[in-house]
Amino acid sequence: MEATLKFIEENKERFLEELKDYLRIPSISAKEENKKDMLKCAQFVVSKLKDAGVKKTKIYKTKGHPIVYGEWLGAKGAQTVLIYGHYDVQPPEPLELWKTPPFEPDIRDGQIYARGANDNKGQNFVHIKSVEAQMKTMGKLPVNVKFVIEGEEEVGSENLTNFIKEHKAMLKCDAVLISDTSLYAPGVPTINYGLRGLTYMEIEVTGPNRDLHSGSFGGAIANPINELAKIIASFHDKNGKVKIPNFYKDVKKITKAEKENIKALRFSDKKFAKEYGVRELQGEKGYSTLERLWTRPTLDCNGIYGGYTGEGAKTVLPSKATAKVSMRLVPDQDPKKIAKEFTKYVKAIAPKSVRVSVKEMHGGHPVAFPLDDPAIQAGAKAVGKAFGKKTVFTREGGSIPIVVDFRKILNAPVVLMGLGLDTDDIHSPNEHFSIDSFYKGIYSSVYFMEEFSKK
Ligand code: BES
Ligand code: MN
Repeated sequence: MEATLKFIEENKERFLEELKDYLRIPSISAKEENKKDMLKCAQFVVSKLKDAGVKKTKIYKTKGHPIVYGEWLGAKGAQTVLIYGHYDVQPPEPLELWKTPPFEPDIRDGQIYARGANDNKGQNFVHIKSVEAQMKTMGKLPVNVKFVIEGEEEVGSENLTNFIKEHKAMLKCDAVLISDTSLYAPGVPTINYGLRGLTYMEIEVTGPNRDLHSGSFGGAIANPINELAKIIASFHDKNGKVKIPNFYKDVKKITKAEKENIKALRFSDKKFAKEYGVRELQGEKGYSTLERLWTRPTLDCNGIYGGYTGEGAKTVLPSKATAKVSMRLVPDQDPKKIAKEFTKYVKAIAPKSVRVSVKEMHGGHPVAFPLDDPAIQAGAKAVGKAFGKKTVFTREGGSIPIVVDFRKILNAPVVLMGLGLDTDDIHSPNEHFSIDSFYKGIYSSVYFMEEFSKK
C-alpha cells in the first residue's frame, strides 16, 4: 500500500497529462459527425486499461457507439468490483461562452477545464489510474476488477441494457463502483445513495397548415405558441405541485432518519441562490430545498421553440411550436407510467383549435439504496480516508439510467462515489473538475478496493 501511494504521488503530473489527452478527443455521442471520434476514444480507453495492467480488453460494437470492456481477474477467491463510467460527452455548445476551447484542456486555479473534465472522463479515469498504481507497485489487486466504459450515457444508454443482459455471466460481480456524481461540498467526502429517474417528453403543437400573417389572421386562428404556453402554464399549481393526475401516486415518503440526515447537512438556501444568480428559490411547498432536489419529483421545460426567433421583428402567426419537457422521478415512480399520465393530461387540456402530439423520448428509473450495505460502507470508509474527513451521505437530483439495470440484472449493490461538484458546470460551457478531487479520487479508489477486499 505504501508503495502504491508513493507511486500516485510521483506520477501525478503524468496522470494529469494523460487525462488531457483523453479530453482532447471530442467524443460527442449525440452528433453523427463525431462517430469516428467515438471509436477513437474507445480505443484510447482500451490503451489506458492495457497500460494499467488490465490486459484482457475488448471493444463491443453496438447499434450505436462501442462499449469498452476490460477485466483483471487475478485475485482468486476475492471479491469482484465492476467499475462503470462513460467516455461520451455532451455537445459543447454554445461555443462562444467557453473561455478556452472545449476540447483543448486548460488548467486554471486548480481546475481542469474541458468538456468531459468532470462528466465523466475525469471521474472514470481515476479508477484506471488507481488500478495502474496498484498493478505497477504490487503486481496485483486485492479484488478482481471489471471495467465497463460506455459511449452512450448522455443519450440514454440505449444499448447498454441489452449488453448487460447478454453478458450477465461475464459481468457478474459483488459490487458496482461508479464515479459520476457530486461531492456534497468541496473537500467533503461523499457517498451518494440515490438518483432521480427521468421521463423526457416532447410536445408539438400545430395550428394552421402554414405560417400566416399575424395581422390578417391573429384573432381568428389559434396561435400554437400561445396554446403551448397555456399548456406549460398548466403543469404546476400555485403551491408548486405538478397537476398531472396520479403524478405523486407512487412516490414513497422518506423516512424520519433520512429527513434527519438531510437536516444535518445544514444546506444554505441563501448561498445556493447567490451562487446561481437568483434572488430567491422556488418549488414545491412544504419541503426543504434538498428534499425537493433529492426526494421529490419535478417537471421542467428544457427547450421551447417556434415562430420567428431571428434578428429584428417579423410579424407571423406560426404553424408550429414545440417544447421539450423533463420530469425527474423518485422511488417508486415508473417512467413509462408517468409518460402515459403526462400524455393523457396534455391531450385532455389541449384546445380543439390546434393539434397536439406528444412523444416519449428517453427515460430512466429512480433508485435509492440502503446505507447499511457493506459495499456502500466500504465506499464511505474509503473516501473518508482519502479526503481526511467524515463522509456524508447524499442523494442526487440527476440521473444515471443504467444504475437500476446493474442493480436488477447483476443483483449487485451500487456504490456511487461522486467526485465532481454541482458548480463544475457539467452540460454547460466551461465544464471543469478539481485537480485535487482527481487525485483524491485515485486514492479513494485504491482504498475502496483494499476495504472491500476485507469482506
Ligand atoms: N453525470 C450525470 C448525472 C448527474 C448529474 C449526477 C448531476 C450528479 C449530478 C449524467 O452523465 C447525466 O447527465 N445524466 C443524464 C441522463 C439522461 C441523459 C438520460 C441526466 O441526468 O440528465
Ligand atoms: Mn455523467
